Amino acid sequence: MNLNAIDRYAKSLIKEAGHKIRVSFFNTIDIDSKSDANDLVTNIDKEVELFFIERVKEDFPDHKIVSEEGFGDRISSLDGIVWFLDPIDGTMNFIHQKRNFAISLGIYVDGVGMLGYIYDVMADDLYHAAKDEGAYFNDERLPQLEITPLEEAVIGINASWVVPNGRVDNDKIIELVTRCRGTRSYGSAAIELAYVSSGRIDAYISMRLAPWDIAGGIVIAQEVGAMATNLQGETPHLLGTDSFIVTRPNLHKEILTNYIRLK
Ligand code: IPD
Ligand code: CA
Ligand code: CA
Repeated sequence: MNLNAIDRYAKSLIKEAGHKIRVSFFNTIDIDSKSDANDLVTNIDKEVELFFIERVKEDFPDHKIVSEEGFGDRISSLDGIVWFLDPIDGTMNFIHQKRNFAISLGIYVDGVGMLGYIYDVMADDLYHAAKDEGAYFNDERLPQLEITPLEEAVIGINASWVVPNGRVDNDKIIELVTRCRGTRSYGSAAIELAYVSSGRIDAYISMRLAPWDIAGGIVIAQEVGAMATNLQGETPHLLGTDSFIVTRPNLHKEILTNYIRLK
C-alpha cells in the first residue's frame, strides 16, 4: 500500500469536490430533513458523497468507505482500509450561511488513523495530516500545541449542552463556561476540530458525534499533541456514535474530571 499515493489522490478528490460544492450555489439546492426537522440534507451532500464513492470504488476496489448519507459501506469491524467521509459537515451552515462547512475525511488502516483531512470549502483551507508526519494548514506546518490555563481557554460547545438535557449535568457545564475565557459554536464539528488543532480555540466538546465527523480531525489533532477521546476518556468508537472531546494537552484531564458528569 502506497500511502503517499493515496494521500495525493485524496487531496485531489477533496479539491474537486470542493469546486463542485462552490459551483452548486449557482443552482437551486434541494433541501430535505432526516431524523427531525433540523437534521438537514441536500442534493449536494448526496452528490458529493456519490462522487467520492464512485471514484474510490473504481480506483481502490478493496477500500471501504463509510459515509453519512448511507451510499457507502456498512462495516462491523475496522479491518482493512476504511475511508470515513462526511461530504458536508455543517449542512445547516451550508444552507443558511453558505460558509463554515467542511469536507471531512479520515483514512484508517486496521483501525489506525493514517491520513486526515478537513477542507473548509469556502475559505479554500485544507487542514491535513499523515500519521507521524505532522499536520498542516494548507502548506504551513502546524506547531505542537502549548499549554493554556482554563481561565484563558476558548471552548467550542453547543448551547444545547448548557441548558438541561438528557446527556450531561448542565450545572457542571455552566461552571465550565463560567470559568473559561469564552465559548464558541461554529456548527461544524470538523471545523471545530481543525480550530483546536490550529490553536484558534482550546477545546471542543460534543455529546454525540458520528465517525465521519471526527475520523479525519482526530488524525490531525494527534499530530499536534491534542488529546481526542470520548467523554469517558477512551479512544472514540468509530463503529457508531460517541461523545467527544478534543483539547490542548493540559486541559483534557481537568475538564473531564471537574466538569463532565454524564447521565
Ligand atoms: C453536524 C455538525 C454539527 C454537530 C452535529 C453534526 P452535519 O454534522 O458537525 O456541528 O453539532 O452533531 O451532526 O449533520 O452538518 O454533517
Ligand atoms: Ca457531520
Ligand atoms: Ca454531513
